Amino acid sequence: MKAKEAAYAPYSNFKVGAVILTASGRTFTGANIENGSYSLTICAERVALYRAIMEGERDFIAIAIATDSKSPAFPCGSCLQTLSEFGSEIEIWLKSGDKGGQRFTLSELLPKPFHFEPKGKGEAPCR
Ligand code: THU
Repeated sequence: MKAKEAAYAPYSNFKVGAVILTASGRTFTGANIENGSYSLTICAERVALYRAIMEGERDFIAIAIATDSKSPAFPCGSCLQTLSEFGSEIEIWLKSGDKGGQRFTLSELLPKPFHFEPKGKGEAPCR
């Protein structure tokens, strides 16, 4: 809920906050950052994830997402796909204005993610 306050959302006025928990016990926050060229907007979940990735984290336990809306906002398909790169059992906790948390797993919300299987040498995917 606190992360939400950092949102830059002058177009939708819909603030979203996220916090991702790593297996090492660290947390990284994110909020949605909109753009006048609407499609360039980035969701709170990916901001949190990318901040963690940039700090070397690859192993995630859970992500919590908060909005002020009456019913909780489910993460969009792009965020689910992006998270799925790093594991299918990441917990997803949703919190809205007046309601407590609801818990899902990533595989419940995105049962069939796209996974690219690279051939040859190189870094292996982290999922
Ligand atoms: N948004 C998120 O931050 N996360 C989602 O999973 C869905 C949507 C943001 C993007 C945009 O700034 C606002 O919510 C309205 O779509």
